[in-house]
Amino acid sequence: MSINVEQLRREFPVLSQTVNGKPLVYLDNAATTQKPKAVVERLMDYYYKENSNIHRGAHYLSMQATEAYEEARETTRMYLNAAFSREIIFTRGTTESINLVASSFSQKFLKEGDEILISAMEHHSNIVPWQMACQQKGATLKVIPMDEQGVLRMDTLDELLTEKTRLVAVSHVSNALGTINPVEDIIGKAHQKGIPVLIDGAQAVPHMKVDVQKLDCDFYCFSGHKLYGPMGVGVLYGKEEWLEQMPPYQGGGEMIKEVRFTGTTYNELPFKFEAGTPNVGDVLGLEAALRFVSYLRHDVISVYEDSLMQYAMKQLATLPGIRFIGTAEHKTSVISFLFDDIHPYDSGVILDKLGIAVRTGHHCAQPVMDFFNIPGTIRVSFAMYNSLKEIDLLMDALKKVRTLFS
Ligand code: ALA
Repeated sequence: MSINVEQLRREFPVLSQTVNGKPLVYLDNAATTQKPKAVVERLMDYYYKENSNIHRGAHYLSMQATEAYEEARETTRMYLNAAFSREIIFTRGTTESINLVASSFSQKFLKEGDEILISAMEHHSNIVPWQMACQQKGATLKVIPMDEQGVLRMDTLDELLTEKTRLVAVSHVSNALGTINPVEDIIGKAHQKGIPVLIDGAQAVPHMKVDVQKLDCDFYCFSGHKLYGPMGVGVLYGKEEWLEQMPPYQGGGEMIKEVRFTGTTYNELPFKFEAGTPNVGDVLGLEAALRFVSYLRHDVISVYEDSLMQYAMKQLATLPGIRFIGTAEHKTSVISFLFDDIHPYDSGVILDKLGIAVRTGHHCAQPVMDFFNIPGTIRVSFAMYNSLKEIDLLMDALKKVRTLFS
């Protein structure tokens, strides 16, 4: 099996438009992916035929929607190979998943003098929630350093994991560099010392098969919209043993068993962490995306995306004045670079005029930019519907950028 890109692109109507009079070349997939018809149609179906509040109505529509929502939880469990569907919490996205753990885990387990360990290549959403938790509790945030290739300095890990470390939170794949981190090794070393590990999988889940039991991570977070699903929905996987012990994140309907003015008892998992009316439509849209990706098969998608990445790296390397930021051996789907002394933003504007969508700037990873002492990069990021031809168009466009600025 392989990807038939022409056929696949027909499933993504947004891709067949022109932008500024040029065919759209969408290379900003690390920011968000486009949605296949199957996802959009699932949303329409829900709102046209099934819309109802769930877990509470005695009527037909409510029961249908409840069943569909819980089935989506089961689909997500299977997708991640979690042991139980009660270990799957639906959130607004990776950011909310991390905030949930940072808040609830820290309330219960973090105290003054403790340490949380993150890495030098985290997205702001896997930095700031931990800074906030550390500030509240008088704990310290420690950082696993990286080298010039954008590879984590694993040699520092033994020393950084101390008896004060309460949790390690690292990205599976860096959104700014594309580095695939050796999360299995990090989890293994942390667990030797009894320390739980949270993995920010926002940039990994679209590109590789993730098996949370095999990884043995304690928490895994991802967003629907980076995986061809809707915005505003994400997933927190947490091992039952941790989720059971953690207090609720937010209070409200759904997360309770009984409420009296004298006190409240909380609902069981997963409902304890899903206060308020859930985002039913988008959860069903996410389920459609998971089914879509599963149908195409992750191993097939990975091989295809790797070929895009190899081709793009080889082509880009022929451009004089290019400087890659992030040259790890194990990378996926993200290429960050600088081009001569042209400001990334200026390149981005010209590329846009030529129909090419990339992201420029610090990519919500300012400490990464500080490390390389740069203001930002041009970031090209791939999805399964990109083609070799689009990489050629990017190359032509970059040559035009050079001509304009020379
Ligand atoms: N985190 C997203 C990105 O890397 C928005 O672009």
